[in-house]
Amino acid sequence: MPEMGQKMWMNVFMAGAAVAAVATAVVVWQRMQKTQPAQTRNQALGLLYEFQHAAATPLHALRQIAEHMAIEMHAGLMTEGKSNLLMLPTFVENLPDGSEEGLFYALDLGGTNFRVLRCLLGGKEGRVLKQEYEEVPIPKSLMLGTSEELFDFIAKRLVDFVNREGEEYRIKNKRPQQVRELGLTFSFPVKQLSVKSGVLIQWTKGFKIADGVGADVVTLLQSAINRQHGPKIDVVVLVNDTVGTLAGGRYWNDDVMVGMILGTGTNACYVERDLPSHAPSKKGEMVINMEWGGFWSSHLPRTYADEQLDNESVNPGQAGYEKMIGGMYLGEIVRRVLLRMAREASLFGGPVPAKLREPFILITPEMSKMHADESGDLRVVAKILRDVFGVQKTELPARRIVHDVCDIVTMRSARLAAAGIVGILKKIMPDAFDSGTSGSLKTLHRNSMVAKRGDSGKIVLAMDGGLYEHYTQYRIYMQAAVNELLSEAQAKRLVIQLSKDGSGIGATILAACHSQYRGQSHKSYETNEPSYAPHEKMVRFGDAHPNATKSQFTQYDTKPTNTQFTQYEKPSLRSSGAQSDRPNLCSSGAQSDRPNLCTSQSQSDMPNCQPPSQHSVSYIYGLNIFEQ
Ligand code: BGC
Repeated sequence: MPEMGQKMWMNVFMAGAAVAAVATAVVVWQRMQKTQPAQTRNQALGLLYEFQHAAATPLHALRQIAEHMAIEMHAGLMTEGKSNLLMLPTFVENLPDGSEEGLFYALDLGGTNFRVLRCLLGGKEGRVLKQEYEEVPIPKSLMLGTSEELFDFIAKRLVDFVNREGEEYRIKNKRPQQVRELGLTFSFPVKQLSVKSGVLIQWTKGFKIADGVGADVVTLLQSAINRQHGPKIDVVVLVNDTVGTLAGGRYWNDDVMVGMILGTGTNACYVERDLPSHAPSKKGEMVINMEWGGFWSSHLPRTYADEQLDNESVNPGQAGYEKMIGGMYLGEIVRRVLLRMAREASLFGGPVPAKLREPFILITPEMSKMHADESGDLRVVAKILRDVFGVQKTELPARRIVHDVCDIVTMRSARLAAAGIVGILKKIMPDAFDSGTSGSLKTLHRNSMVAKRGDSGKIVLAMDGGLYEHYTQYRIYMQAAVNELLSEAQAKRLVIQLSKDGSGIGATILAACHSQYRGQSHKSYETNEPSYAPHEKMVRFGDAHPNATKSQFTQYDTKPTNTQFTQYEKPSLRSSGAQSDRPNLCSSGAQSDRPNLCTSQSQSDMPNCQPPSQHSVSYIYGLNIFEQ
């Protein structure tokens, strides 16, 4: 009996101990539930601050970057291969003046999609009479295959597009045979040998086709077109997308001196008069393709995420500036930062979500939507984390951290781009924009006729690219940094105009400038109808081929804000004649004292119109084929 009693007490004791153990475990578990998120949140915040610090772009650093950009521009021009800026002569000496006439095609290749365009130009009165385009995604396998496969794919779609040319484009051709002339926009670094030939230096933006490097890209395309045995298409000009954008901008506005792309990749070009011997020019000025994506400066704020991205890219050690700025990379940088936070600070609780490990799964348009989320509970952020990374449930503090990472990455990109712009201004208008360069550099600058000419006037930068066009906060950050870097008076001189699809249309206009039939245009481009497409036949800009798809960058979320940047300025209508509903964007005054690069005429016949206001984004409407 006593044994039984002992056993009973023993059991009671054991049961009590078990209950106590369970209770203790519950308390510890509850405590952990409370302390763990706080701890991990602090760890995540620590990682956020660390990243923010490493990615910071204080004004003094931006000034150094701008200065460095101007110095590298000089170095790249003077000594081939001695600068991280290639400063490539484009052999484009003829920029459009509006008098171009006829039907021209363009092929715009430079990202994950390519575009084919046709454009009917009607001279100074008619301008862009009609245009159509088609956009085709490039299969990933072709971006890494052989150049013949890539160009055959492109040529086939081009020929199909040409074959669908409508009656309204048909021209009564007085040439021996029906020839379509085409401008090739090829948005990779190319060493041009003439205005219609050039060899590829290297691929960027995720392309890697070994046999393309060193090959003449016009030959590659022309041979592929010929293999199609279709209509006769001659490639008459080869341009970088920045050059197409500059030309497209110049077509409407004589003050455009710089072309720039902020899209998948980034780059800029400008009109240079201090030309090196390897850029022989009859006219004494030429467009220079900077290839600024390759720019490097020790002042660039490089983080661990940039290093990882670069090491794992198809072109490690190259295009460092582009990898901090371009739309192809911003989402990927954010993903890498979030991955580290998920690994080291359990940002999303539990194990690291598998999809967060997938490179390039977060595209920049999705990132920009998270950034634009202004809801109190950041529900867009929650949705995108769910849709893209498969993170089903997130806490608000974690979503805030994600939002902040997007902000840091976007702000850095925009401010670095602004510093690059100011660097160009310092180079081409030193007396107006250069406050800090050495005396000798100033003397060099002063020899530039562009600088003298521009001293009293505006300098217009034609901009194309989805990052700039569709990402409101990006534009705000960029313009704010430009304003920080420049004095008020200097900032007033700079006009940044959005030249929608300037790179493609610009190539058709440049094809017209370099047409072998130029000069005979009035005769040879006569339409079947009494005259060039009359007003009632004009197609509104914005008409696109029904099969056209929008590029991924047209998906950027752009919430309207009250800032001046979203007040898109609608330029005044042409004053002369009611025939055109196309607004004109030329700047103040009907005449320009800047010599015309396309003809010998020195005056512009652009009619009076309103000058674009200072810090607004203004469209070059005639080029607007994506207008919604
Ligand atoms: C290319 C440039 C191009 C830029 C914008 C860069 O990756 O190297 O040629 O202008 O992207 O498309």
